[in-house]
Amino acid sequence: MRIFSGIRPTGNIHIGNYLGAVKQWIELQEKNECVFCIVDMHAVTTPYDPKEMKKNILEAASIYLAAGVNPDKSIIFVQSDVREHVELAWLLGAITPMGELSRMTQFKEKSKQHKDYINAGLFNYPVLMAADIMLYKTQAVPVGKDQEQHVELTRTIARKFNQKFGQTFPEPEAILPKAGAKIMSLQNPKKKMSKTDESKSYISLFDTEEEIEKKIMSATTDSGKGVIYNVTKKPGISNLLTIYSLLDGRTIQEIEKEFKGKGYGDFKKSLAKVLINYLEPFRRKQKELLTREVYVQEILNKGKSRAEVIAKTTMQEVKEKMGLTS
Ligand code: AMP
Ligand code: TRP
Repeated sequence: MRIFSGIRPTGNIHIGNYLGAVKQWIELQEKNECVFCIVDMHAVTTPYDPKEMKKNILEAASIYLAAGVNPDKSIIFVQSDVREHVELAWLLGAITPMGELSRMTQFKEKSKQHKDYINAGLFNYPVLMAADIMLYKTQAVPVGKDQEQHVELTRTIARKFNQKFGQTFPEPEAILPKAGAKIMSLQNPKKKMSKTDESKSYISLFDTEEEIEKKIMSATTDSGKGVIYNVTKKPGISNLLTIYSLLDGRTIQEIEKEFKGKGYGDFKKSLAKVLINYLEPFRRKQKELLTREVYVQEILNKGKSRAEVIAKTTMQEVKEKMGLTS
């Protein structure tokens, strides 16, 4: 199968991004042909600092590598390095109903969040995402729950294209992890963990030991006692139990058993330790990769060339089918 996924280089990549998306990639790359993108052209649709972009792109690349993406096998590249993404997005825009775009939850949420930054790019964001996916004739897209709607729209666009211009694209499916598809904020467990919230609401993959401990100890828990999984009555503890179980490999029931009769404090201390140990290789690898910028850049350059071969072939076919050949 051909797989495609991406993360916006907006800094502060957190354990929600990791557990929802990147962790799945590592398993999928064993048996599939994977394309992993750093989607910088999506990152410009919300407020950002141009001076930080390059650093954020390298940071995203180093996360992919530190998490275990194998650059000899999978393609790792930067979206703006392959022009065909925007080219296809424009053409797909011509068959995408505005009504569908205005129903997108992410557009509604982001325009509420950045009231003075509601731009056409934000509205068209899902069309560019559809182009990312379709350019590689992707069959499956491993993402977190919040991106399911965008993949569903991609299926609609692919279907429309095929009906209008002849069979060209597979209808891609989202792959969501069984657990961890929606990790919640540490400060407000009714809201998803998000990079743009205050930093104590998420654990970044590169947080220091002290930061991890502080953030976990101050995470919102629930009234009452007992380390018990119950999303409606105990959303805070349930979110922490999900994180614990995904990192530690034991089931939630086993962890509940271990903390039977113990308080939230003991549980949190133990979770902080699990996180510190789990994320230690990320911190170490990142430090190392930051001193090897040339090496990371080489990987991105090689990724660009490999991605371009596929992208150019698809674009040629699309243009022919749409009657745009000279
Ligand atoms: P983004 O940071 O929005 O570019 O997201 C990158 C990937 O992480 C996407 O596949 C998202 O679905 C996933 N993701 C983002 N936030 C979360 C979260 N809180 N829980 C699980 N997955 C998430
Ligand atoms: N929209 C995704 C997000 O916000 C990022 C993204 C862009 C993506 N293009 C993609 C994810 C293609 C999967 C496939 O998280």
